[in-house]
Amino acid sequence: MKKYLIICGVLAAVVACSKKESNPNMDSNVMMEEPVVKTVDSAAAGKSEGLALIEGADCLTCHKVDAKLVGPSYQEVADKYTEADLDMLANKIIDGGKGNWGEIPMTPHTGMSKENAKKMVEYILSLKK
Ligand code: HEC
Repeated sequence: MKKYLIICGVLAAVVACSKKESNPNMDSNVMMEEPVVKTVDSAAAGKSEGLALIEGADCLTCHKVDAKLVGPSYQEVADKYTEADLDMLANKIIDGGKGNWGEIPMTPHTGMSKENAKKMVEYILSLKK
């Protein structure tokens, strides 16, 4: 009799779990809250947005967060500059250029908006150790 009760308990748990997983509303509700967070804390949202933009562009073929690749690591960039350089760095992402880290040029990203470039720089500068 005891054994039977345990099996019943296990079955009930399995049914409860699979019910939860198959409820699509729960996932979509979580997703929809994100834009609200953006307006509440725009600085933090700017950073994570910058990371998303970097991941969506070609940056990571030449840059890594913590190691030199074709270009300097983002941590090196963060250590070298401050918030005061935000504008200059955003322009550099859009226009490309060389000379600050060596003779290998960074390719221009002409289609990118200044606003998005700034968000990327904000994220990079947030890596300062
Ligand atoms: C083709 C390779 C390549 C790609 C793609 C690339 N970079 Fe670079 N990046 C470089 C190189 C090389 C440098 C060093 C330039 C120099 O010496 O001034 C650099 C420098 C930088 C710097 C520092 C600029 C400075 O003047 O010190 C930032 C910030 C940066 N990249 C961000 C980005 C972002 C954001 C993207 C994606 C939109 C990106 N890079 C895509 C190669 C690349």
